[in-house]
Amino acid sequence: RNRPIVAIDGPAGAGKSSVARRLAERLGFVLVDTGALYRTVALAAERGSIAFDDAEGLERLTHSLVESSAIAFTRSEGREPRVLLWGEDVSDAIRTPEIGMGASIVSAHPGVRAGLLDLQRKLGEGGGVVLEGRDIGTVVFPDAEVKFFLTASPEVRATRRYEELLAKGQSVTFEGTLEEVKKRDAQDMNRAHAPLRRAPTAILIDSSDNTVDETVSKMADLVQAHI
Ligand code: C5P
Repeated sequence: RNRPIVAIDGPAGAGKSSVARRLAERLGFVLVDTGALYRTVALAAERGSIAFDDAEGLERLTHSLVESSAIAFTRSEGREPRVLLWGEDVSDAIRTPEIGMGASIVSAHPGVRAGLLDLQRKLGEGGGVVLEGRDIGTVVFPDAEVKFFLTASPEVRATRRYEELLAKGQSVTFEGTLEEVKKRDAQDMNRAHAPLRRAPTAILIDSSDNTVDETVSKMADLVQAHI
């Protein structure tokens, strides 16, 4: 690879998406939000009335979505990438707490993870890319040139998520958000397949006391040192 793969893993609400987006911009790299893939599978399952505990149905759904290239990203200069499902822009529809929780449940099925693995590798293999998720440095690209594990305290993460959801006009409470953050952490860290874990070689970044800018600068310097 001429240009590196940058893997960013970490729990929900650590600021991964904003940090990953800004870091990719700064480096001139393509951003791949792998959580959006799991969220889109959850949305497609909900729409197709496939239960989140129907392992076989979800596996079939994931494979058919991948094989028919039903899930796609579109990018245009200076704008956030959009996620398409069968050509429909579902970027907002996949951002609800319900679909977040649904993604966390469907992503525990090995058949779903296997279905999305090749797609993620295809999206990243050329390098010059920032991938963010839960198992990028451990499973998807264990040979990524630079790996980060981005985290923050549960309270800080819940506060960020709460403010983000409020800004979107969703009716949520702080307590409910904190509860959801903790529940999703437990689900993601305790699942049997590809649990959320810091890769041994991942650089630990705690963003609790830093602004997005400070965190991005620190990470950009570390990536530059590898190029
Ligand atoms: O990052 P985001 O909140 O969009 O991810 C939604 C869910 O998708 C996570 O809670 C996690 O269970 C799952 N996920 C995963 N592996 C990834 C990315 C996301 O299991 N690489």
